[in-house]
Amino acid sequence: MQYYMKGGNPLVGDVYISGAKNAALGILPAAIMADETVIIDNVPDVSDIHTLCDAMSEIGVLVATGDNHTYTINGANISKARVDNEHIRHIRAGYYLLGALLGKYHHAEVALPGGCNIGSRPIDQHLKGFRALGATAEVQHGIVIVDGKNLHGGHVYLDMVSVGATVNIMLAAALAPGNTVIENAAKEPHVVDIANLLNRMGANIRGAGTDIIKIRGVDHLHGTDYSVIPDQIEAGTYMFAAAITQGDVMVHNIIPQHMDAISSKLIEMGCEVSEFDEAIRVVGKFPLHPCNVKTLPYPGFPTDMQPQICVALAKADGRGVITESIFESRFKYVDELTKMGAHIKVEGNVAVIDGVPRMTGAQLEAPDLRAGAALVLAGLGADGWSSVSNVDFIMRGYENFIEKLKGLGAEIECVSDEREARKFRFRVG
Ligand code: UD1
Repeated sequence: MQYYMKGGNPLVGDVYISGAKNAALGILPAAIMADETVIIDNVPDVSDIHTLCDAMSEIGVLVATGDNHTYTINGANISKARVDNEHIRHIRAGYYLLGALLGKYHHAEVALPGGCNIGSRPIDQHLKGFRALGATAEVQHGIVIVDGKNLHGGHVYLDMVSVGATVNIMLAAALAPGNTVIENAAKEPHVVDIANLLNRMGANIRGAGTDIIKIRGVDHLHGTDYSVIPDQIEAGTYMFAAAITQGDVMVHNIIPQHMDAISSKLIEMGCEVSEFDEAIRVVGKFPLHPCNVKTLPYPGFPTDMQPQICVALAKADGRGVITESIFESRFKYVDELTKMGAHIKVEGNVAVIDGVPRMTGAQLEAPDLRAGAALVLAGLGADGWSSVSNVDFIMRGYENFIEKLKGLGAEIECVSDEREARKFRFRVG
């Protein structure tokens, strides 16, 4: 299966953003920490969520979904605290089951997390956090085993800002007797969202969204209902789609404040950005101006938006520089952009981009989730036909990507063979 597209159409119209994948991936494991039913709404319909829910079902969590966006979770009858299947090893967020099960049952065994191949991605800070709560934590034959009969509050200073470690420690500490303090915590909107859900379930967590989170452990968590925040990265991707195709896109169902770092780069590049209560309109203005950008933890420019801004810079009228400060191997997609005529040199964690006035379509391969989406944007902004293969990566994180792009006027189709591609070419002309 691949995405096949003809570039050149400015994307114009309205797009509605789904719930945040990375928030939902922490919220669903948090929900199993209660013995009562938790109803989660605005869950995105993406494959990472299905993989996580399948793994939760396998250990006895009752998972029911009505419309693919509302999940009813009941963790009263969990039969084992060991999570391992072929699929869970491919996603990152399986590790949140460690914190959730450790907090609730004082023991957890979960396959080492996978996720996009964008760097070494160790989990030492997660394990350090669990140990600070009185647990033992070790990795044996690809399985992370944590055990904490006498789990208690503790003090953790994270060596680097880690979203995963912050959330995982918060999950376990929610049910660990005593006080926990996480210093140098991640401040991402989804960290706040997961803390808000836990508090709705009866947890006592203060300071989420700042770099010091304080948790007073409670006896048990109870049922509630909750709605996941909108996806900052999905929204940012469509905002950059407008910039790259010289389009005019109204991105609905977002929290504009979460988009500040992204909006300000688009403005610097010469786009018109207007903010509304729950929407942002981006009008792409050519020529795009180059800029320099460094990826940083929130509220800085997100590493998950790095490939998308690179595509925009590849079309800007001058030299831009990207410094990737979170993941060391996040420029794998650059070779693909080079096939389209982009001028980009990568040295270590820095990419120097000399914008070109036009890029041409090419056969492209998605190396990971966000880069895959960025290559689709590159194809839509290039002259002629492009294909992007390995689309499973993209489906992990973008709900109805093709349908939403088509709704904005993109000529794009998901095809499974050359015959379908020919039919699409014939139809589009
Ligand atoms: C999460 C997101 C991912 C996003 C990233 C940064 C999910 C499922 N994934 O990934 O989309 O790109 O945040 O916003 O939410 N680190 C360590 N040791 C650790 C933990 C992290 O060295 O124990 C390092 C990482 O290698 C990386 C940095 O810390 O350099 C940040 O990683 P982290 O925030 O933990 O990212 P993830 O949770 O893996």
